[in-house]
Amino acid sequence: MLKIDELKVSYGGIEAVKGITFEVPERKIVTLIGANGAGKSTTLRTIAGLVKPAHGCIHLQGEDITSLSPDRIVSKGLTLVPEGRRVFPDLTVLENLKIGAYLRTDSLEDDLNWVYDLFPRLKERSWQAAGTLSGGEQQMLAVGRALMSRPKIIMMDEPSLGLAPIVVKGIFDIIQEINRQGVTVLLIEQNANMALKIADVGYVLETGRISLTGSGRELLANEAVKKAYLGS
Ligand SMILES: Nc1ncnc2c1ncn2[C@@H]1O[C@H](COP(=O)(O)OP(=O)(O)OP(=O)(O)O)[C@@H](O)[C@H]1O
Ligand SMILES: [Mg+2]
Repeated sequence: MLKIDELKVSYGGIEAVKGITFEVPERKIVTLIGANGAGKSTTLRTIAGLVKPAHGCIHLQGEDITSLSPDRIVSKGLTLVPEGRRVFPDLTVLENLKIGAYLRTDSLEDDLNWVYDLFPRLKERSWQAAGTLSGGEQQMLAVGRALMSRPKIIMMDEPSLGLAPIVVKGIFDIIQEINRQGVTVLLIEQNANMALKIADVGYVLETGRISLTGSGRELLANEAVKKAYLGS
């Protein structure tokens, strides 16, 4: 589905991503784990077209998307739920959801129902200003808004950040449900334990380089991963 080759990204001469190669197979959940500053968000932002790479290429279903604009990339079926949620606080839940579908001209009815089925809480609160939602509800809205573009692949940057354990569990359940419904997932998480539990494939990113690869289960059992990322 998604292929990243030799990707390098620099900010003003400092290389944040130092040549990474990885794949996200169709209908799978893939996770990238790594410490703060390892280059996880930079990688996702580059794939989404928000940052231009210094080197390397990105293919989506065989098509080179490396130099496409962010909105072209969304229209090809790849969407990003950014770190920190970034909902529009003064707009209602419904208005935020409609913004996620801004590139589409067909009816939104089915997708709105799909998102409301996944997140009944958003339906109840569709007229509420997004800025007054709880943190967990804002994360649901950020995911729902991304789904309104009808993605083939959704990338999520730390969806569990700052949320209570019970809410985190809900978000992970939804990620799996979205995946069961056919959407490929590329997930970044500080919560490596939970991410690896649901991931088909995991990659460990260390200061701009991939240091380890394996199935979620293999990485959970890996001694180096346990020490560095699982707190045990
Ligand atoms: N806009 C920017 N300008 C300059 N440097 C940046 C910019 N964005 C990120 N960086 C730097 O690039 C490196 C990788 O940052 P990135 O945000 O990709 O890490 P991360 O793995 O997502 O970290 P975290 O877990 O803290 O979110 C860091 O050293 C960071 O300071
Ligand atoms: Mg980050």
